[in-house]
Formats: sequence, structure tokens, C-alpha cells
Amino acid sequence: MESISLSNEVKIPKIMLGSFQMNKESDMDEVVEEALTHGVYGFDTSPSYKTEEMLANAIHKSLSKHSDIKRSDLFVDSKIDSWQMMEGKGDIRKYVEEMLEKTNLSYLDLLLIHWPEPNFYTETYKCMEKLYEEGIIKSIGVCNFRIRHFERLIKDGATITPHVMQNEIHPFNVEEELVNYCKDHGIVVQAYSPLCRMIPEIANDATLNILARKYNVSVAQLMLRFHTERGLVPIVKTSSKKRVLENTDIFGFTIEDDDMTTISMLDRHFKMFLESRCCPGY
Ligand SMILES: NC(=O)c1ccc[n+]([C@@H]2O[C@H](COP(=O)([O-])OP(=O)(O)OC[C@H]3O[C@@H](n4cnc5c(N)ncnc54)[C@H](OP(=O)(O)O)[C@@H]3O)[C@@H](O)[C@H]2O)c1
Repeated sequence: MESISLSNEVKIPKIMLGSFQMNKESDMDEVVEEALTHGVYGFDTSPSYKTEEMLANAIHKSLSKHSDIKRSDLFVDSKIDSWQMMEGKGDIRKYVEEMLEKTNLSYLDLLLIHWPEPNFYTETYKCMEKLYEEGIIKSIGVCNFRIRHFERLIKDGATITPHVMQNEIHPFNVEEELVNYCKDHGIVVQAYSPLCRMIPEIANDATLNILARKYNVSVAQLMLRFHTERGLVPIVKTSSKKRVLENTDIFGFTIEDDDMTTISMLDRHFKMFLESRCCPGY
């Protein structure tokens, strides 16, 4: 799988697998094994998904079967949740150390702030900067940020521009302005819920179905290619071994510019994960 360079030269795979609502160890083991077999090396987790250990165990099992693949070939990210930011008052070092100990992953390729918890996200970010400088985490980023949150980080003295921003992005929520802001600042964008969870409104959308037929791909493949053509890294979740290949075999076709515009025009600011108390005005 090809990769993209972050601003610090760390390489991130062009597509990654998510683990929210991956509840069964056997599914996780099968999905990770299938992924590694097909050269898919990027994985996303979070304390709140309760999949950090399950994912890491699956990775260790798969690595033991593939002597040609090393930990350093993989890209694993996790997050700092709001309760950790609040409990540690921004000092989140112990949660990262505990995570690394229980998963035996040695380091994280990327650590993200899960939501901009209003009172603690700047302090949390500054603590992450220290962990980054120590090499415990290879890159740092944020999720669910709006432009004002980036501006506040700068105003409050953050010194490292986030390497990555992860946000909900799909054809019903394309986030043009935010994506352009990130591009202008050298921040790579990960698109979460890149399939809008395949809710019926998107799975049955006439435009997407017509274009999928035109390119002889599935609606899911069309949407995932739409993200990669925008230069985004989709993080797609499936519990199905069969869909790992479908969701990552997306580089054999190119979406024409007019069709990219047509898909972008489906935007209706529709979100599965609403901004609420975690994402207030300031
Ligand atoms: N930072 C954040 O705040 C945040 C928030 C939400 C999610 N995330 C991350 O992003 C990842 C992906 O987001 P998501 O899980 O919300 O949504 P998603 O990846 O857009 O959609 C997942 C859903 O689509 C189904 N699906 C997957 N591939 C399919 C295919 N080819 N055809 C038909 N259905 C398919 C899956 O079912 P099956 O499992 O049955 O295949 C699942 O129900 C998460 O797992 C998580 O790692 C981050």
C-alpha cells in the first residue's frame, strides 16, 4: 500500500482500518490478518472503543505469521479521550504509557486528541508535544477540530503544527473549508466514517449508484476513492474479512474531475457525530 508523507516525514498509509464497534476478537483477528496479507498496514483505535488491546493482540498474532512484516511497517494510531484530559488536567503522559504497556506496541505512530475538550485540549496538546519530542509517539494530531480550535492552539503557545487532523468526512459532509485549511498548513486529513456508515440514504443515493456503475465499482469503493483523490486518508471500519479487500482495492480507477465535483455537491453538512459540549464556541 502506498503512503503519504506527514510534515515530519513520517509515512501514513493511503487508507486505514477503523475499530469502533469491533466487538469480537475473532473478527478483529481475521480482519487484521486479511489486512496484513494484502499490504494494508494502517489501524485506528481509541480508549473509548475498548479495542486498543484487541487490535494490538491481533497485530502481534499476525506479525508472528508474517516474518517479512515488521512493527515498523505498520501505522497504528490511538487517541486521548475527554475523561483522560479532564482527569489528568491535560497531563496525559500516564495514559499513553499505560496504553503502550498493555498493548506492547513499543510506540504509537500517531496520538490524537479525540475531542477538543474545552478546558484541557491546549494543555493536553502541549503534553503530547513533549511525548513527541521524546519519540514515544511518532506524530501528533487532533480530531473533531474546527478552524477556531487550531487558532486557539497557536494563540495559547503550541509550537508544533498538528501532523494530522481526523474528522467526519463523507459525500454528505465534505468539509471543503476545513480540508483546505489543513492543506494550507501541511496537516494531513484522515476521514472518519468515510462511508457515512453506509446508512440507507447514502447506500441508496442515486448519484453515487450511477457513478459506481459507471466505474464498475461498489458504492463503498467509489466513496473511498473519492477521499483518496482529495488527498485524504479514509479510515474505514468493517468486521467482515471479505470487505477488507473490497474497501482497500480502490486504486485501479480514477474518478474524473466532473464526477468529483458531482460527488462534492452531495454535501448537506450531515454528521453522524454531532459537535456538542465537547466542541463549544471557544
Ligand atoms: N475520531 C473520531 O471521533 C471518530 C469517530 C467515529 C469513527 N472514528 C474512526 O473511523 C472508523 C470508521 O468510521 P465508522 O465506523 O463510524 O464508519 P464507516 O467506516 O463509514 O462505516 C462502517 C459501517 O459500514 C459498513 N461497511 C464497511 N464496508 C462496507 C462495504 N464495503 N459495503 C457495505 N457496508 C460496509 C460496516 O459494516 P461491517 O462491519 O458489517 O462491514 C459498518 O457498519 C471507526 O471505526 C473509528 O476507527 C473516529
